[in-house]
Amino acid sequence: MKKGKILIGISGGIAAYKIPFLVRLFVKQNYEIKIIMTKSATKFVSPDTLSVLSKNEVLIDLFPEKITHNKNKNIDITDSKTWHVNLGLWADVFLIAPATCNTISKVVSGVSDNLLLTTILSSRCPIIFSPAMDDDMFKNKVIQKNIKELSKLGYSVIPPEEGELASGLTGMGRMPEPETLFNFTLDILNKKKDLKGKKILVTAGPTREFIDPVRFISNPSTGKMGFEIARAPSDRGAEVTLITGPVNLQTPENVNRIDVVTTNDMFNAVKKNLKNNDLIIMSAAVEDLAPSVNSKSKLKKESFKNKVNIEFENTVDILEYIGKNKTGFKLAGFALETDNGIENAKKKLKKKNLDLIVLNNPNDKGAGFANDTNKVKLIYKNGMDNIPLMSKRDVAELILNKLNSLK
Ligand code: CTP
Repeated sequence: MKKGKILIGISGGIAAYKIPFLVRLFVKQNYEIKIIMTKSATKFVSPDTLSVLSKNEVLIDLFPEKITHNKNKNIDITDSKTWHVNLGLWADVFLIAPATCNTISKVVSGVSDNLLLTTILSSRCPIIFSPAMDDDMFKNKVIQKNIKELSKLGYSVIPPEEGELASGLTGMGRMPEPETLFNFTLDILNKKKDLKGKKILVTAGPTREFIDPVRFISNPSTGKMGFEIARAPSDRGAEVTLITGPVNLQTPENVNRIDVVTTNDMFNAVKKNLKNNDLIIMSAAVEDLAPSVNSKSKLKKESFKNKVNIEFENTVDILEYIGKNKTGFKLAGFALETDNGIENAKKKLKKKNLDLIVLNNPNDKGAGFANDTNKVKLIYKNGMDNIPLMSKRDVAELILNKLNSLK
């Protein structure tokens, strides 16, 4: 019985010489390997070598003229025109290594003019890219943008390393050693469905409180952190409901999204979805203040007489309500603090009956609203984890793992 099905895509870069070693690692550990190469990859490493090591035929052509292989009957080639679909459905995880500038840029813009690209576009499994290129190419603005785009699109990216490059230069862009690719791929493969059967509720984004039909008070939350928190457990098999204020983000795959606008809308949606959860993570930047009067008609400029006094009152504290009505689930909230962060966060942890509070400071470089990164402290009843600056996607995994593991 094989432990898992791994598809490896090789594009044309010198780092391809490391792939035979990687294939050996997987095969020795009893994983089934299939390989797709681009034509230029065959200039760097021989398909015959890879075929022997993987014990499978290596696929290169999108429309092969003559089908000569299938000795092992491992690949369904009854219709070679749909190879890409079959392979995409077959794999549990798909690693593209090395991923060249050309392949990355084509994926980002949806080009599918070879078998590797077509298979990437039609796969349903997690896809990992290991970019490898020369230092100057790696630093090029277009390539940097495209690598970031890969992450945004939900693909995993193994960061290249610094060191000696094939050009003789030293710099960024070197593909990590086979052991690193091996561990990264297995991490993604093994955690894939570990949260199957769990039900998770996440809130994200800002809420709006209206002064009149065209004016409101809100905050700069973009929802990025909350959407990553919803994506992480969904990717791992959990059933996730995401209640979000107005944001400009795509719904993560398989997540049940509920859109709301005001704090009261969010409160009602939370109450409706409170039952049977295992974890609740309240990452929405709920607007604390609402105008005491919400005029049904648009206020006219003349009526302000140069100065307006608007009275505000507190909105309902949704998290506090959830904490008071805790039934069997573990609860996490956020604390956005500029001063006395740890002290204030600990107070909120207790007051709102939380298991975990995620503290961040909008004044920290790379943290808070709108960034793709965050720097947080995870505070719980008997400890604190100090997390360095990292991508919101990785922070989301840490929050999820911590909350899930708390007793
Ligand atoms: N929260 C909430 N309902 C509110 C305000 C906040 O559910 N009306 C939640 C947020 O989603 C977050 C946590 O409470 O998870 C803490 O929010 P934060 O704004 O840091 O703290 P507040 O409790 O609002 O207190 P303060 O503004 O005084 O710091």
